[in-house]
Amino acid sequence: MKVPMLDLSEQYQGMKTEVLQALDEVMSSSRFILGDNVKKLEEDIATYSHVNHGIGCGNGSDAIHIALQASGVGPGDEVITTTFTFFATGGAIVRAGATPVFVDIDPVTFNIDPEKVKEAITPKTKAIIPVHLYGQMADMEAISEIAKKHKLIVIEDAAQAIGAKSKGKTVGELGTAATYSFFPTKNLGAYGDGGMIVTNDDEIAEQCRVIRVHGSKPKYYHHVLGYNSRLDEIQAAVLNVKFPHLDTWSELRREKAANYTKLLHEAVGDKIVTPVEVEGNYHVFHQYTIKVPNRDELQAYLKEQGVATMVYYPLPLHVQPVFKELGFKEGDLPVAEKIANEALSLPMFPELKLEQQEYVVSKIAEFFNK
Ligand SMILES: Cc1ncc(COP(=O)(O)O)c(C=O)c1O
Repeated sequence: MKVPMLDLSEQYQGMKTEVLQALDEVMSSSRFILGDNVKKLEEDIATYSHVNHGIGCGNGSDAIHIALQASGVGPGDEVITTTFTFFATGGAIVRAGATPVFVDIDPVTFNIDPEKVKEAITPKTKAIIPVHLYGQMADMEAISEIAKKHKLIVIEDAAQAIGAKSKGKTVGELGTAATYSFFPTKNLGAYGDGGMIVTNDDEIAEQCRVIRVHGSKPKYYHHVLGYNSRLDEIQAAVLNVKFPHLDTWSELRREKAANYTKLLHEAVGDKIVTPVEVEGNYHVFHQYTIKVPNRDELQAYLKEQGVATMVYYPLPLHVQPVFKELGFKEGDLPVAEKIANEALSLPMFPELKLEQQEYVVSKIAEFFNK
């Protein structure tokens, strides 16, 4: 048996007629940029995130960059974020002209540790970017409290966590703004790149709308420096077909996660650590990530057996060569450095079959019994 990390083909077959019809409507209308499909998606995702505004843009990386700039974060400002995230989080801070301040993570959730955020605050701190890693919200209650006390902006990087909740609050509800990615592999994935900023702040929303069209307002008059970063009608049309299914897909992901956890505990007990859903959280399992000391050998073994896995992420941002000038060194953020050597994400998608999960777990058990 071969088990892929992600297989989008079954999902497409199930909605092929609707998708092709939506694409045909876009092509027939000849309206490709910022039309009715983008508007509908922006409204639906803002409502879903319990906020007033959604601003579609080119991708999830630009969404962070635009949200930072629109919130007034720029040169001379420090932005505190987790070191254990995809490069885009740190890259967006630098692109906005600010300085990233990477901090360590909670060893259980792998999300930013609020205590470490407190320790990193300086007079230059302007914003915090918590990343809701793997689909589970960071401790937004604690982060919001810190932000309120120090008058800081909070941009939630929710690229991996659309639909996640914590104590009844959705992604986007507690931060100044939140950003989504519609990269094809994401829980709500387009057929190309796409992203969105959601916010309750009217001024930030307006600035985001201006920045995504070269800072142009009115057209051809530029008061701020912007970019060309728009969600296109083709991607929005696909996302409008997919969006009504998102909650069902999240439930299916949660069901697969529960299967893995049960099967793994029965098969290998405490040889690995399964993901922990913090009480009060609704984890949408963008990834199902285990912790295992001999990770690289297990990954190689699974590959031989036809099981795809991924390491998110092998090198934390504070030790990435491109960020060398920030002055961090190995050993500075030990929790993330250890987890970068132990985290292994298993195949996860809503259509994953129980037989496939049983096969994955049987091969993990086989590895430990060798
Ligand atoms: C945590 C995180 N932030 C930002 C991004 C960037 O999103 P995009 O690939 O749409 O630019 C991603 C996804 O790739 C991500 O996982």
